[in-house]
Amino acid sequence: MAGKRNVLKEHLAESAAVLRERLGDRAPEVGIILGSGLGPLAERIEDAAFVPFGEVPHMKTSTATSHVGRFVCGRLGGRMVIAMQGRLHGYEGNSAQEVAYPVWLMHELGVGALITTNAAGAINESYQVGDFCVMADHLNFTGRNPVAGTEPDGIAFRFFSMLDAYDPALRSLAHAVAEEAGIRVQEGVYLGLLGPSFETPAEIRAFRGWGADTVAMSVVEEVIAARHVGMRVLGVSLVTNMACGVEGASPNDVEVLEVAATRGEDFCRLITGVIERM
Ligand code: HPA
Repeated sequence: MAGKRNVLKEHLAESAAVLRERLGDRAPEVGIILGSGLGPLAERIEDAAFVPFGEVPHMKTSTATSHVGRFVCGRLGGRMVIAMQGRLHGYEGNSAQEVAYPVWLMHELGVGALITTNAAGAINESYQVGDFCVMADHLNFTGRNPVAGTEPDGIAFRFFSMLDAYDPALRSLAHAVAEEAGIRVQEGVYLGLLGPSFETPAEIRAFRGWGADTVAMSVVEEVIAARHVGMRVLGVSLVTNMACGVEGASPNDVEVLEVAATRGEDFCRLITGVIERM
């Protein structure tokens, strides 16, 4: 009996075929997702091939400010990497599966480890604007899961553990690199929500009670997709602001990008240093 068609699987194979052709002999091992204001890391990638998301069949494109919306594949820190210069968010109107799609696509290309990065607000009052925060774990407050549905079940088994979703060895490595480079790094629990409104002070107080240290509008769906197919994950936030109501803060997107611009050099040193020693 012929198996049931799996459209997601077919789409991934078609997307991967187009990307492979554009990448030539580049075979990426590490995937990087560059969050708001953190895109300039992609300019450090050597011998790069650039593929706009819109030129990959079945991929959505980025619409968020500062998210260029292209794959950049080449050498960084002595490894072959594929970076997403800009990501897909739920708040742009993308479904959870559309947000997860490029992660599954990177896996299809042979990528075994994902470094996902973002700008985040700090709920933890001991954090400072400009700190980096290694994600120890997350709270998925998007209300969605990319693996829900029958098609992802055809890519990899539906049920999987989220224990140590953020790889303990990669987290230790990030701390070691940061310490040697003199870069301030926290480690905490990240809470991801859909956005695009920033949170209310009441929500931030509740999230603190649940054990969240940072908050933003991305990452969790990507990490669930990566763990679904067994990729190792490192998550790194840049604290661009205190969360709404913390020390009277009222976050806005301009401040997020301004702070990201001032921390770009340390961000590049941290991520490149990790890749060198992975
Ligand atoms: N909340 C949500 N998303 C964010 C924030 C925030 O405070 N800062 C940067 N992205």
